[in-house]
Amino acid sequence: MSSTLIVLNLKTYLEGTGEGAVKVAQACKEVADDSGIEIGVAPQFCDIYRVASQVDLPVYSQSLDPVGAGSFTGHAFVQSIKDAGAVGTLINHSECRLTLANIDASITTAKNAALKTIVCTNNVATSAAAAALGPDYVAVEPPELIGSGIPVSKADPGVVTGSVDAVKRINPAVQVLCGAGISKGEDLAAALELGSVGVLLASGIVKAANPKAALEDLVSKV
Ligand code: G3P
Repeated sequence: MSSTLIVLNLKTYLEGTGEGAVKVAQACKEVADDSGIEIGVAPQFCDIYRVASQVDLPVYSQSLDPVGAGSFTGHAFVQSIKDAGAVGTLINHSECRLTLANIDASITTAKNAALKTIVCTNNVATSAAAAALGPDYVAVEPPELIGSGIPVSKADPGVVTGSVDAVKRINPAVQVLCGAGISKGEDLAAALELGSVGVLLASGIVKAANPKAALEDLVSKV
């Protein structure tokens, strides 16, 4: 296995919901096995168990709430996420923004349950702030490029190199992913060139006519 990490966020795309989530995860598993590159998926909460129990690959929650056991209603409880089979969680996202205090509490909650933590950020300053909180990964994604098909690694390389530098300075144990508009092998290769260790992506794979072929292209230049 290389140290490159790819995490596919299934968001609420219909193609990645329910049985669709299992199909996309299966494609990820096949491409991960063939390429030796670690590929994880982040399905919706209700699909974590379905995916994790049917496909042997790392499953991430799209979020979690920093609540304990007991009198809490309507939350994504870490124990339930873990018991469903997740190995990690995304925290914060431009599509689901949290306060800094909530990001901190979510990281602590996830770490106490031995879940890997990927904090999404939107620029260099928030990458630096997130690094100070000590997650496993910071994933920088300029919101204007999310879902655009225009890869961050080409359109805004400075936000990736800037995040890598800032994170290294603040907490060298934290690794950097980048995302937004990533879909092709050359996008991933450029992301790695810029110093990130992988990518967090969604639409380019989930909405592709053939997700497995799209994933094969994604890993083709590593
Ligand atoms: O979390 C991943 C994401 O926001 C990037 O989305 O569709 O631009 O790959 P996309």
